[in-house]
Amino acid sequence: MKIFLDSADLDEITALRDTGFVDGVTTNPSLIAKSGHNILDRIAEICAIVDGPVSAEVTATDYDTMLAEGRKLAAIAPNVAVKVPLTKAGLQTCRTLSDAGTKVNVTLCFTAGQALLAAKAGATFISPFVGRLDDIGKDGMGLIEEICTLYANYDCPTEVLVASVRSTQHVVDAALMGADVVTLPPKILTALYHHPLTDSGLDAFLKDWAKTGQSIL
Ligand code: G3P
Repeated sequence: MKIFLDSADLDEITALRDTGFVDGVTTNPSLIAKSGHNILDRIAEICAIVDGPVSAEVTATDYDTMLAEGRKLAAIAPNVAVKVPLTKAGLQTCRTLSDAGTKVNVTLCFTAGQALLAAKAGATFISPFVGRLDDIGKDGMGLIEEICTLYANYDCPTEVLVASVRSTQHVVDAALMGADVVTLPPKILTALYHHPLTDSGLDAFLKDWAKTGQSIL
């Protein structure tokens, strides 16, 4: 399963890129706003330090302007994936960009029916927001299971990119269901490899080792 970083913060991306676990980056208008930087400049900066797909989201809501924005974002770098919302205009934009060979990430997905249409529109990635469904008492990971089943039934090339991830359990569940990608806030990626028992166990090993007076080198 691929891991993308859900951030537009260059320091966060740089720090975690060196772990070797970062296969791509996703941004959205809120993350760009939080960065305080111009979207075109920031996406170019991220594309220069990350080899994998970098999602950059359009902000228009009509087809013509979405398409113009998408083409401008795609022109920044070869690894840009244009993000469009799961609306009628977004799906039409997805179809046009996809037909032209541009990677498209269809975002703000909340039902399997929406995911079916995104796949039919040629989406490279579909981004179901599991945390936001959980927030309203729905089963976010249940949606992932539905989409993975639905796509497998038709050998669909669209990759399931689990978004709005709020816990390491979401990551494990996504992998158990066969999702292609998870996009993680930096704190979740860090939490994946950190466990207090690992820390305390290592401390105990090193205390015992120190008593031997040995050195491996
Ligand atoms: O990639 C989508 C993600 O940024 C949304 O996360 O926690 O705001 O639902 P969240």
